[in-house]
Amino acid sequence: MLVTTKNMFEKAMKENFAIGAFNINDMEIIQGIMDAANKAKSPVILQASSSAIKYARMGYLMKMVEAAVNEYPEIPVAIHLDHGPDFETCKMCVDSGFTSVMFDGSKYDFEENIKLTKQVVDYAHSKGVVVEAELGKLAGIEDDVNVSAEDSMYTDPEEAREFVSRTGCDSLAIAIGTSHGAYKFKGDAKLRFDILKKVKELIPNTPIVLHGASTVVPSLLEQCNKYGADIPGAKGVPDEMLHTASISGVSKINVDTDLRLAMTAGIRKVFAEEPNVFDPRKYLQPARELIEKTVYHKMVNVFGSSNKI
Ligand code: G3H
Ligand code: 13P
Ligand code: ZN
Repeated sequence: MLVTTKNMFEKAMKENFAIGAFNINDMEIIQGIMDAANKAKSPVILQASSSAIKYARMGYLMKMVEAAVNEYPEIPVAIHLDHGPDFETCKMCVDSGFTSVMFDGSKYDFEENIKLTKQVVDYAHSKGVVVEAELGKLAGIEDDVNVSAEDSMYTDPEEAREFVSRTGCDSLAIAIGTSHGAYKFKGDAKLRFDILKKVKELIPNTPIVLHGASTVVPSLLEQCNKYGADIPGAKGVPDEMLHTASISGVSKINVDTDLRLAMTAGIRKVFAEEPNVFDPRKYLQPARELIEKTVYHKMVNVFGSSNKI
């Protein structure tokens, strides 16, 4: 059934697990995620960025989500806007039937972020839609920042408390050392769980969101590189850390890069092993199955969301 994230997050916070939020761009990705959610009996968040909406086109996207919900009616599914850049995009998604939107004001200063987030919250709430906001900055290793600049990018727990109370947002994305994409860490993976702990002490009832949380699954990366890709030195957040986050108050964990790797690994293998194949179903089916396997593993072994419907 199509739902907002409200009840999902309440259950996740009470029972100490996290819900996976998986980025969707096309039919095979949606089907792979939903097949996994159905097998795992897990609630799930399907999320689309504004560029994903442009790619798939809003009408197709919403019909595919509707089809997914109809196929597995007992699975709670939220459809969420990922990284909404402005009020207009958030409004368009609310008006198109999204049950949750993110306004990402992390590039603005504190007061401007509050003002713009509040505007989205007021509109979304008037339509029964929930809002995720973001405070802090997710740097990538390519950003090459010094230690004091790095410190200023993490979410300040005191600011998080003030931000949530002044905006009325329903959930909050925080920066504790993750970043988007396939290159998250130069050396060992390191997350600031101390900041997460402090945030949870100050705002225990606000669901916390972790962006940039792909593992960059080694077997998928290997499969991509074995069959012609050139993605050296990629590194993500290990499953053990994501599990720790799931049982430490993170209620939503965002995964996109791992799905991209799964899709690419599946297609590349077929192309390399069967160069005579040119029926898209022959290479998209294994890709869809790898997405299902990847999502199922996260739900069952990492996030703890299986059998929580
Ligand atoms: O955090 C961003 C997501 O990975 C979506 O990326 O804007 O390329 O769709 P995208
Ligand atoms: P990854 O790039 O680690 O998959 O993060 C995705 C994300 O945060 C989407 O908002
Ligand atoms: Zn993100």
